[in-house]
Amino acid sequence: MKKHNFNAGPSVLPQVVIENAAKAVIEFGGTGLSLLSISHRTPEFEAVVNEAQALFRELMQIPDNYKIFFVGGGMSTQFFHIPANFLGKKAGYINTGVWTKKSIKEAKRYGEVQVLATSEDKNFTYIPKGFDIPEDLDYLYICTNNTIYGSEYHTDIDSPVPLIADMSSDIMSRPVDVSKYAMIVGGAQKNLSCAGVSFVIIRDDMLQKVVRDVPTMVNVNTHVDNNSMFNTPPVFPIFVMNETLKWLKSIGGLKEMYRINKEKADLLYNEIDRNPLFRGTVEKEDRSLMNICFIMAEGKEDLAPEFMAFAKERGMVGIKGHRLVGGFRASCYNALPKESVEALVACMQEFEQLHK
Ligand SMILES: Cc1ncc(COP(=O)(O)O)c(C=O)c1O
Repeated sequence: MKKHNFNAGPSVLPQVVIENAAKAVIEFGGTGLSLLSISHRTPEFEAVVNEAQALFRELMQIPDNYKIFFVGGGMSTQFFHIPANFLGKKAGYINTGVWTKKSIKEAKRYGEVQVLATSEDKNFTYIPKGFDIPEDLDYLYICTNNTIYGSEYHTDIDSPVPLIADMSSDIMSRPVDVSKYAMIVGGAQKNLSCAGVSFVIIRDDMLQKVVRDVPTMVNVNTHVDNNSMFNTPPVFPIFVMNETLKWLKSIGGLKEMYRINKEKADLLYNEIDRNPLFRGTVEKEDRSLMNICFIMAEGKEDLAPEFMAFAKERGMVGIKGHRLVGGFRASCYNALPKESVEALVACMQEFEQLHK
């Protein structure tokens, strides 16, 4: 039976990427060796790193005064790398869920954290708006897409202080105005690769703003100065990321990706709003295009386990909602085919018929 992969991360990747990765595990780039057993310093692999950086720049239209590097450790490592480098006195954070809470916790080790706005009062079902941003902050930190709750910023906010964004779960799902950000960071294991590598896009002026003597691996300059090769980088995930970036370019880049993502999300949200058995959990204007959360309608809660089993029998994988939200979460990342969303919608309609 065909499987529809709605996993929240690691998650679906384009089939061509998986095939090319499998081939490279056998033999990589004319080296006569497996990708898994080459030196990261071979010219063939350095070419992969350079190509991935160039594709980041091209696809996201990253201006010349930014650097891009790739590093291991996951986004959770960045939660403390960021304040270790840049939090001298005070930083502002917008709290939109688990991932910002975790980054706030780490930041507090290094200085004062001002939570400028939070949506915790309504279990993170909206994106706070209209908050003031004091000009004396070292930086402002946001998470643009809240993977667990399914809320997303749909505009690039203006900030008078350096804006740092965790884009782990919506990177390259839409065009963004990179010039509004001082730093864009994330784990690549949702839209760009398998697990094991994070991407960092950083404006040049930030490289002079490191406020303390941090360990070498934590200092952003280490990775910029050594072109992501200070230590042994995660070779396989970087290769997979480069293949995904090539795929993104081949389908028409981020504008086209956004068009497709919007089409997929509209399809599912329309069904959630139409179908009397289900309802969405997030304010409509803040609904994520990537992680679509929904629960059973009021009075129908008892049907949840039955729907889960029903969907599983029809090939749906990974639609169980996070325990903090309950219900269901269909992660519709870049590589998820529209047919998978259509299959889920059909499954919801069939379930509705069954319970008429
Ligand atoms: C938005 C967001 N930030 C951070 C993380 C943590 O990333 P990692 O597992 O790479 O440490 C996740 C993981 O799902 C996430 O969705």
